[in-house]
Amino acid sequence: MHKIKVRINGRDFEDEVDSRLLLVHYIRQKARLTGTHVGCDTGNCGACTIIFNGKTIKSCLMLAVQANGADMTTVEGLAKNGLHPIQEAFMDRFAIQCGYCTPGMMLSACSLLQTNPQPNEAEIREAIEGNLCMCTGYQQIVEAIQYAAEKTRK
Ligand code: FES
Ligand code: FES
Repeated sequence: MHKIKVRINGRDFEDEVDSRLLLVHYIRQKARLTGTHVGCDTGNCGACTIIFNGKTIKSCLMLAVQANGADMTTVEGLAKNGLHPIQEAFMDRFAIQCGYCTPGMMLSACSLLQTNPQPNEAEIREAIEGNLCMCTGYQQIVEAIQYAAEKTRK
């Protein structure tokens, strides 16, 4: 067992974790933030995407002990005073069906807009290429991210 201290969505957590515990399972089971989904556990689907020290990662590809000292954002940390623009855009542009991919998609989109506030369609598609969606065909998701970018610029 190892002691770790992490910050998630501005809140500090201190826990003892098994050396083999994946970060995604720490987030879901210990921090009780179940908005971070598990689709594959092997780095393929992107459902477990979070923002880790400012960059998106797939949290099933990291051990919880490796996150010691990290600052993370999960989907629960997006809404501050009301929904985040990306959340509103996903609703307004019907970019959600079953919702399984949605938290990871939103975090990839947020990370993109932080570094590139005016992405073109190709840049958006590249930013979400690690996030698989079984339902939407991606078009509404791309449009939602374009819409969020427009709203954020105003
Ligand atoms: Fe992490 Fe699928 S659960 S990439
Ligand atoms: Fe169902 Fe994307 S909305 S997987």
